[in-house]
Amino acid sequence: MEDYKPASYSKTTLTELMIPAYANFGGKIHGGILLSLMDKVAYACASKHAGNYCVTANIDTVDFLQPVEVGEMVSMLASVNYVGNTSMVVGIKVVSEDFKRGTIKHTNTSFFTMIAKDDEGRPTKVPGLILETRDDVRRFLEAIKRKELRNTYKRELNNAKTSMEIETEIDKLENERCKIIWSK
Ligand SMILES: CC(C)(COP(=O)(O)OP(=O)(O)OC[C@H]1O[C@@H](n2cnc3c(N)ncnc32)[C@H](O)[C@@H]1OP(=O)(O)O)[C@@H](O)C(=O)NCCC(=O)NCCS
Repeated sequence: MEDYKPASYSKTTLTELMIPAYANFGGKIHGGILLSLMDKVAYACASKHAGNYCVTANIDTVDFLQPVEVGEMVSMLASVNYVGNTSMVVGIKVVSEDFKRGTIKHTNTSFFTMIAKDDEGRPTKVPGLILETRDDVRRFLEAIKRKELRNTYKRELNNAKTSMEIETEIDKLENERCKIIWSK
């Protein structure tokens, strides 16, 4: 019989204090630190659902909407939004809390596609997902939409690459902030 697990089973939260060692030269938290924490929570959440080791295959857009400051407490809230055959999409909401001011800001939401692997390193089937709430259903449907849009984008990008003629398109650079010193 097919195995199914509820989305709530693998919901995972990772919380970490932003220490000075995580800051960039401007005093804000490095984007790479946040990405690394997101990858960690995506791994924990996906592995729990899959019951297997997982790898990251794709990250669907990371827009840092607001900077994170040293001293803030960042929480990564992760849940499995969608399952394919061997893939899972983990949605991660990142929030940052400033205790002194008593404020919480939403810094970004991203979607990590994780693939379950067996002991030989081959992609392996993951349990189906039981959708318990309206939000679970919405997230599953939105993940399908993003997948369709990504496939269209990939196809169009490939077409654009193969059909692009530099000699005929070079005029488009006229109003761009670049100087062409290359000549044919
Ligand atoms: C991602 C990876 C497992 C895919 O392997 P593959 O042999 O191409 O596997 P398949 O073609 O059988 O695809 C397996 C699943 O991955 C999905 N997948 C593969 N590449 C993907 C991508 N770029 N984005 C989203 N999903 C992807 C497929 O759609 C498929 O999903 P499904 O089984 O639910 O239908 C493989 O490329 C890999 O191991 N990459 C390196 C991952 C890594 O090192 N990550 C960073 C550190 S964890």
